[in-house]
Amino acid sequence: MAGAFAGDLAGDVLDGMTAEQKYIPSKYFYDGRGSRLFEAICTLPEYYLTRTELSVLRDRSRAIMEPFGAGDLVEMGSGANWKISTLIDAAERPHGDGLRYVPVDVSEPALVAASEGLVRKYRMLTVLGIVGDFTRDLHRVPDGVPKIVMLFGSTVGNFDEAACHRLLRSVADVMRPGDRFLIGIDMIKPVPVLEAAYNDSRGITGEFNRNVLHVINRELHADFDPALFDHVAFYDAEKEQVEMHLRARQKTTVVIRDLDLSVEFERGETIRTEISRKFSRESAEALFSRAGLSADRWFSDPKGWFSLVELASDRR
Ligand code: SAH
Ligand code: TRP
Repeated sequence: MAGAFAGDLAGDVLDGMTAEQKYIPSKYFYDGRGSRLFEAICTLPEYYLTRTELSVLRDRSRAIMEPFGAGDLVEMGSGANWKISTLIDAAERPHGDGLRYVPVDVSEPALVAASEGLVRKYRMLTVLGIVGDFTRDLHRVPDGVPKIVMLFGSTVGNFDEAACHRLLRSVADVMRPGDRFLIGIDMIKPVPVLEAAYNDSRGITGEFNRNVLHVINRELHADFDPALFDHVAFYDAEKEQVEMHLRARQKTTVVIRDLDLSVEFERGETIRTEISRKFSRESAEALFSRAGLSADRWFSDPKGWFSLVELASDRR
């Protein structure tokens, strides 16, 4: 895989496959095929997150952009979608004049596709794409012009408490006085709604989940048989998170040649591939304030299913 994470994959898979609860870090979902499958998830009827966040963005984009002049729109984990265009449109800068879009994503194909579309749509927009891991490459984001940093899609929920704290701190560290951080978080809601979003009836989420096995097969010369692993997703009310797993249908051994490793799976044993944390206003505020960020404005849909929070750094 050309890209930002080829170097980490071996070490991360070794750690994950030798842990008590096997796991694979979620950034490895997103090769070209994974990014396309994720785009398909975003349009599924069960996956309320994308369309709800977009509705909030559309309703509130003027209010969000009103205090912003020229500068950088930095989007972490941008993927291939165009949520950003609602903000560019609302900025009322003809053809994106004076705005620079700075997407940061591990997926080069997604980043290129989105950037090409945007420069075609906005003739005056500058794009500076950064292929990288936003958990450690934020220092590559240019400094010196006003910016809004964005993390949409509830991507922040894919990090556990400690990783989340580090991530938010690292964003706070690159913020200058006046800069803002716009973050999309998914709120706690009835369990059937949460579980359906990660168990769509067409099985696309399952394909997306299993894609990580194809990535490991290709990149590390492993022999996972994806057909032997079932997609499982459920909400854990105590941890307030959806968990995604791949569950072995039978006892099996997988050889990962590049790691000189063979991995045994019991029947029913799982690999945890993703967590997606769900928030209350209180739990989110606590997370933000521990990281030195304070919420200036909250924007939500009428049902309160998804929130966009505008944060400022306390060190202003
Ligand atoms: N922002 C889009 C896409 C969300 S999917 C939306 O709201 O729909 C998550 C995106 O983040 C993918 O494009 C994936 O490639 C990227 N991503 C995940 N982990 C990442 C990391 N550690 N560093 C950079 N990009 C990451
Ligand atoms: N950020 C997305 C979310 O938490 C990622 C995601 C959506 C996902 N569907 C998935 C990850 C299915 C793994 C499997 O909703």
